[in-house]
Amino acid sequence: MSVVIAIAQQKGGAGKSTIAASLAVALAASGRRVALLDTDPQATLGRWWALRQDQPRATPLTFEAPSGWRVTGAVERLRRDHDALLIDTAPHAETDSRVAIRAAELVIVPMQPSGPDLWASEATLKLAAAEKRPARILLNRVPATGRLKDQILAELAARGLATLGPGLGNRTAFTTAFMQGLTATETAPRGLAALEILACLEAMIPLLKETH
Ligand SMILES: Nc1ncnc2c1ncn2[C@@H]1O[C@H](COP(=O)(O)OP(=O)(O)OP(=O)(O)O)[C@@H](O)[C@H]1O
Ligand SMILES: [Mg+2]
Repeated sequence: MSVVIAIAQQKGGAGKSTIAASLAVALAASGRRVALLDTDPQATLGRWWALRQDQPRATPLTFEAPSGWRVTGAVERLRRDHDALLIDTAPHAETDSRVAIRAAELVIVPMQPSGPDLWASEATLKLAAAEKRPARILLNRVPATGRLKDQILAELAARGLATLGPGLGNRTAFTTAFMQGLTATETAPRGLAALEILACLEAMIPLLKETH
């Protein structure tokens, strides 16, 4: 039995690739067989994966970079011998995002807490709704202080949009780990970035069970 999770957000730079890698590694470290798919021609995760080959402490997982129509076939094949598949998607690519969303049981939409980011998320959320896939917003780069998060949470609640756990702060640990081909749970397992990823995973697990 396998579960497929698409990380989609048409707005660029929202944190899709960082979150896809972080969740894939955390799931793999919890004993699951995990495949990470990079469907973005920018190949951000491909670069990360290349760096990862020089890291003896990297948690083992499968990586593939299928594009366009090949994504569906790759997902079907990888489902057979993996517990979880995470698909990173490109920004500004409705057709390709649709393929990934259609293949998924859960869509995670990373979103920075701001009006423009919320408005830009609408296209991705509509796509998930059109494909009848459950979507959860993952607030990313949330400022440590101020009322912004509460304001955005109120906006989301008013629109009936659900979030995945409390979200992720604006933390350099995500970026420094990524630049080494690792993730925060690997480089600083006791740090706040790692703890936030684990909280996100905890919020995700019950949703994965619901999809079966
Ligand atoms: N929680 C965070 N804290 C600090 N920096 C972050 C966080 N999440 C992402 N970043 C940084 O923001 C930038 C964009 O992140 P990332 O590449 O994951 O976004 P993306 O949505 O995949 O972008 P694209 O749309 O171009 O594919 C990167 O420099 C990344 O290191
Ligand atoms: Mg990306």
